[in-house]
Amino acid sequence: MHSVRVNLKKQTDYSYNIYIGNGFVKNKIQEMASTDKTVFVVDSNVYNLYTELFKNADCYIYDASEKNKDIDYIKKILAYLKSKNLHRDDTVVAVGGGITGDVVGFAASMYMRGVSFVNIPTTFLSMVDSSVGGKTGVNFGGVKNMVGAFYQPDCVFIDIDFLETLEHEEVMNGFAEVIKYAAIFDKDMFYELKERKELKGKIFLADLIKRCCEIKADIVNQDEKEKGLRKLLNFGHTVGHAVEADSLHSIKHGYAVAIGMYYETLFAVEKGLAEPKVADELKEILLNFNYEIIYSVKRANTFTESIKSDKKASGTGVTIAFAKEIGKGEICNEIRAEELQKIVFSS
Ligand SMILES: NC(=O)c1ccc[n+]([C@@H]2O[C@H](COP(=O)([O-])OP(=O)(O)OC[C@H]3O[C@@H](n4cnc5c(N)ncnc54)[C@H](O)[C@@H]3O)[C@@H](O)[C@H]2O)c1
Ligand SMILES: [Zn+2]
Repeated sequence: MHSVRVNLKKQTDYSYNIYIGNGFVKNKIQEMASTDKTVFVVDSNVYNLYTELFKNADCYIYDASEKNKDIDYIKKILAYLKSKNLHRDDTVVAVGGGITGDVVGFAASMYMRGVSFVNIPTTFLSMVDSSVGGKTGVNFGGVKNMVGAFYQPDCVFIDIDFLETLEHEEVMNGFAEVIKYAAIFDKDMFYELKERKELKGKIFLADLIKRCCEIKADIVNQDEKEKGLRKLLNFGHTVGHAVEADSLHSIKHGYAVAIGMYYETLFAVEKGLAEPKVADELKEILLNFNYEIIYSVKRANTFTESIKSDKKASGTGVTIAFAKEIGKGEICNEIRAEELQKIVFSS
């Protein structure tokens, strides 16, 4: 038998920059729009709020929702790129929240086997989380993010001025992920945030976003395909996804992750894996920012199914991430789903 090794890592450099600031994106968009080599796909709400940014730009207006995070929209976007004669050396730019970035990144990965992709995230969640790390995709067969690709952008422009029009609920939806980063990676950030009551100030927000991007970038550099370290980012997500499903998605992702972080910590404490103090401190910071942390399950079967079918669940059990102490994340494998959910059912 012959064997040929295709050593891709050494030949391809996927590095890119994330620029974070305020008031700079207008020029960037106009610059890119002035060539016929760039096509924009813009969240419809963002387009309506910031129409003047896109004058002279070729824009596909995308009505972003989980329902439209769908393979049919990939086809529509690809058809639009083709109608604009976009070539292999040209660029697709996503402007919108995490849904838009995920969908457009996936379309960019497919068009002519991959064209340049620039991401301009406009929600807090997409600024601190989804625009970093190269996961793209759509929902399929009723399963979230079932079909997709790892496809890194050429660069990311984060302009915090977009946050001025974002509803408070959406800001807090993203902020839960910030608390997650702090709890598992950055003790100083955790205690700094714990002293705060609100998220105001451009310098503060830009610093916070920068720190979150650094943390996520650092993890993704070490484990792009989620074989190990990247699993830490799932803190709060196993129970969180079950809460989302159980509430029929009336509870937004970040709010569900806040609940999930609390219960997964209670579980880790009960198992002797985490210091009891972690649960108290997490509770305090979540309540400071007005997150609900107690959840009463309405559809036990749905909840159980979600815990069991979680992407991280292997044949031998469920994997959760937790903070052993504040700032120090760890993974625990082979948990019995029944044991984990008991902690929620009995609260
Ligand atoms: N790729 C990843 O690594 C990753 C990580 C986390 C989440 N995600 C995905 O991200 C998605 C959630 O992203 P999201 O929370 O940004 O949701 P979203 O894209 O649906 O945006 C939320 C809402 O805010 C509106 N909006 C966007 N920018 C605005 C602005 N500046 N002003 C006013 N309104 C604005 C949108 O129109 C939408 O109604 C999920 O589908 C999730 O699967 C991906
Ligand atoms: Zn999340």
